Amino acid sequence: MPRVTFIDHRGGSREVEIENGSSLMAGAVTAQVDGILGDCGGACSCATCHVHVAPEWFDRLPPRGEHEEAMLEMALDPDETSRLSCQILLAPELDGLVVTLPESQI
Ligand code: FES
Repeated sequence: MPRVTFIDHRGGSREVEIENGSSLMAGAVTAQVDGILGDCGGACSCATCHVHVAPEWFDRLPPRGEHEEAMLEMALDPDETSRLSCQILLAPELDGLVVTLPESQI
């Protein structure tokens, strides 16, 4: 299973294994990662699963969809590395992915 490192805004980190095919959000919620709420269950309509993807990983992810772009405009403090973790599906090539949690979601 791919391993993903979640870094909180204070610099603490936690590594979680997430099944291939599961979303990053679902894996984080199952592992009770603080700061990932996933209120809409992955329907891309709440932005409570916002993460900042490490720059070296950002271009290795499939691009944002139109709906995701629109929802990110409603997230607090989005930037060029922002993604909604419910829209990222784990795959073997994402083993080692690193994301940072926005301070606003703690
Ligand atoms: Fe709601 Fe991702 S879980 S937008």
